Amino acid sequence: MEKSALQIARAAYQPKLPKALQGPVKAVEGAATQSVGNQDEIKALFPNTYGMPVITFEAGEAKELPAFNVGVILSGGQAPGGHNVISGLFDGVKSLNPANKLYGFILGPGGLVDHKYMEITSEIMDEYRNTGGFDIIGSGRTKLEKEDQFEKGIEILRELGIKALVIIGGDDSNTNACVLAEYYAAKKYGVQVIGCPKTIDGDLKNEQIETSFGFDTACKTYSELIGNIERDCNSSRKYWHFIKLMGRSASHIALECALQTQPNICLISEEVEAKDMSLDDVVTYIATAVANRAAEGNNFGTVLIPEGLIEFIPAIKKLIAELNEVLTDPATGESREFANAEEQIAFVKGAIAKDNLAVLESLPADVARQLCLDRDPHGNVQVSLIETEKLLSRMVAEKLAAWKKEGKFVGKFSAQHHFFGYEGRCAAPSNYDADYCYSLGFNASRLIANGKTGYMSIIKNTTAPAAEWIAGGVPITMMMNIERRNGANKPVIRKALVELDGAPFKFFASKRDEWAKETAFVYPGPIQYWGPSEVCDQTTKTLLLEQAK
Ligand code: FBP
Repeated sequence: MEKSALQIARAAYQPKLPKALQGPVKAVEGAATQSVGNQDEIKALFPNTYGMPVITFEAGEAKELPAFNVGVILSGGQAPGGHNVISGLFDGVKSLNPANKLYGFILGPGGLVDHKYMEITSEIMDEYRNTGGFDIIGSGRTKLEKEDQFEKGIEILRELGIKALVIIGGDDSNTNACVLAEYYAAKKYGVQVIGCPKTIDGDLKNEQIETSFGFDTACKTYSELIGNIERDCNSSRKYWHFIKLMGRSASHIALECALQTQPNICLISEEVEAKDMSLDDVVTYIATAVANRAAEGNNFGTVLIPEGLIEFIPAIKKLIAELNEVLTDPATGESREFANAEEQIAFVKGAIAKDNLAVLESLPADVARQLCLDRDPHGNVQVSLIETEKLLSRMVAEKLAAWKKEGKFVGKFSAQHHFFGYEGRCAAPSNYDADYCYSLGFNASRLIANGKTGYMSIIKNTTAPAAEWIAGGVPITMMMNIERRNGANKPVIRKALVELDGAPFKFFASKRDEWAKETAFVYPGPIQYWGPSEVCDQTTKTLLLEQAK
């Protein structure tokens, strides 16, 4: 592999660890835990892994452990820092006993089921330290949820002498990790399952998980690009830039980027839902800001749009819920099969209620089509394929044209469109993500050594210097509740959406009228890996506001 100058210099970076993980540890157990919702149902579904205590690691005595092997899976969308989770795990596992081996399953959970794996040796590992991407072993979205998959998995785990499997994934993948941990515990197979919180979307967080890894780097990457666009926009003063930002459901990415770059408008899906806004209300909101700026001679600006917006507009959310029901075959619980897209759309139109059909038919054809078509393996609408930024700017243009005739709009409106998503998912991890991920992986090795299963690796207090970070584990069952998925009630990890009474949103809401009117852009510039600490080591504004620092 030919390497860039940055890759070569960055490979030498030694990520920092919390003090507690710098020597032998002891696991301190807290009180028994409860799931966040539906306690009785979750307890019944997870009798072997429910109610376990939260674990905190403190300095302890060194213990000799017999050699053991570990498997690792990267699951779902890429997030910066995945390689550092693996390098932390690798170093942690080897520090327990140099004879221990780490195996990576190829292209996600499918690799476990299909017995596709490789040993991660120190030569291979060294090629990937502090790099972006998941390409060391690849990732995939195969859903690990059926008994025959678990049984295929145990065959290869036994063959390779693997005592513990680490699943690096988002809420859906860690839900599957929890189900797998319970299954292996119930069967007494002697294989532990540990999760690590990944996703640029930032929606796998709660009282125990401060942030999912990758969110920091992805938001900094998008914010650099948004800042560059803002400066271009303020230089030529002739375009409105409509920028869609990744983040399937929650608007954490859009909110964080708004906090970093101070655009004229940032939509927050959770607020759109709470205020029961229609698509027309959203368009009117944007058009009003455009018209107000035009009245002051400013025919330019930036609009940030969260990828998941469309799903949060209440009428469309109701439509999607019914689409999900009718697209699932009640007999098998699986997605219905269709010969082609046209057959699928015709079936949907005949199957849904009249009011939902009216909403579907009111949408532009391309959006309606995407909503009716395939889901990802976890049943999610593939929102990254819907061009919301173009939809909104088209509708804003139509509204402004009507207002012009009425004398309510005096300016010019010309739009440019951008979608920032994939370009942020494999960026070289920021110092924060490099350290956080390495610590998560190293910590996972300590959870394994302490015999834990059904736990997520957690690192807390991350706005403090790394030495003061707190390492431990949280039972995955603690984060679960029952939700309707693919036409059935399922135990799943509760997704963290933007809280409208939370500090990050409240700060944004207190500033946005000023940002809409003024040109208050901030230009964050590219991620820096070396230099003054206030430039290189800052965490996200979301985390700082959440922790009131
Ligand atoms: P994860 O939840 O698996 O981390 O993936 C997040 C994400 O990047 C979303 O922001 C986006 O909607 C989706 O993946 C895109 O998926 P794909 O890579 O399959 O196109």
